[in-house]
Amino acid sequence: RKVVLAYSGGLDTSIILKWLEDTYHCEVVTFTADIGQGEEVEPARAKAQAMGVKEIYIEDLREEFARDYVFPMFRANAIYEGEYRLGTSIARPLIAKRLVEIANETGADAISHGATGKGNDQVRFELGAYALKPDVKVIAPWREWDLLSREKLMAYAEEHGIPVDFKKGKKSPYSMDANLMHISYEGGILEDPWAEPEEEMWRWTVAPEAAPDQPTLLELTYEKGDIVAIDGNPMTPAQVMELLNKVGGENGIGRDDLVENRYVGMKSRGCYETPAGAIMLRAHRAMESLTLDREVAHLKDELMPKYAEIIYNGYWWSPERQMMQKMIDASQENVNGKVRVKLYKGNVIIAGRQSDSDSLFDESIATFEDDAGAYDQKDAEGFIKLNALRLRIAARKRG
Ligand code: ARG
Ligand code: SIN
Repeated sequence: RKVVLAYSGGLDTSIILKWLEDTYHCEVVTFTADIGQGEEVEPARAKAQAMGVKEIYIEDLREEFARDYVFPMFRANAIYEGEYRLGTSIARPLIAKRLVEIANETGADAISHGATGKGNDQVRFELGAYALKPDVKVIAPWREWDLLSREKLMAYAEEHGIPVDFKKGKKSPYSMDANLMHISYEGGILEDPWAEPEEEMWRWTVAPEAAPDQPTLLELTYEKGDIVAIDGNPMTPAQVMELLNKVGGENGIGRDDLVENRYVGMKSRGCYETPAGAIMLRAHRAMESLTLDREVAHLKDELMPKYAEIIYNGYWWSPERQMMQKMIDASQENVNGKVRVKLYKGNVIIAGRQSDSDSLFDESIATFEDDAGAYDQKDAEGFIKLNALRLRIAARKRG
């Protein structure tokens, strides 16, 4: 038996590595990806080597993640339960895909991950893996072993000679996950929904109160619903996100503190920093406001919560997501132009939008001044009267 493990190089996944070898007498292939978590991935190579791993995969997936997952999701303006920007949810399908591809390349029949049996991530990894490799065997140590406390984990590490310096720095009191989209915090004092997180928890953003007194202006250029340049400089999707995270973070943008419904049925409290995501969501809506037909926009808005739920619940590789994506992508054909945003103390303020090629905004019709016959106000009388017909019939009936 050979297993491909999603390996961060941290203590928990190092313990999993050892546990897999001991419990399943298998060969482990490690897979570590840079998806913009802001931590070096190379150290994972030395750690895996030190543990005797022969096949080690270390990959920079930032561009693929931004281009093929985050950007398509933003075309839909996706947001879960009105608040969560899906930062972790959108990364899992890519990890699942690479796990399966590496399994195929190395002749492994199983994959393994470090998600617990209580959360969403296990569902996302495994639904993704089954969708792409129907007969794959999944090993989820957290659902099997009895190392359920920190002490037991540490004892296991010591017993099996897993160096304690695998623990990078001081162990964070939170369960965290980071990528180009966000950094998330769960657990610890956050398990009390009434407790406000301490300021030191936040890592990517300054507090809005501490942000500069001068706003930062940015001009975002859109092509088919995607940002392709900032302030006139062409950029790749990952570069766009890195820049917006940096500037957004400096201006206190994208902090969220929320309680969400996990797919497995429990409520969970989480804090998130999503600076680029917060800017992209507002700006994309502004670009669409000028370029999308009303009914197309409203239909997109009706379907959006469903699309977001599909991603949250782990169904990225499902036929329904792929069908919706085709429709969403088609809607973006004319979403071209520029949006000016002003970032100021936690706020994303839209300061202008423009589309030379595709604006549906017709000033000659919309004007409050003389429109020179572009719009005949008399037409509105019949329009309103026919729409009022059923209301008038009902009113007469009531007497
Ligand atoms: N609650 C969020 C979600 O379900 C974040 C999960 C964070 N995952 C983690 N392994 N810490 O998408
Ligand atoms: C976990 O349970 O591993 C993290 C939280 C989640 O997946 O929702």
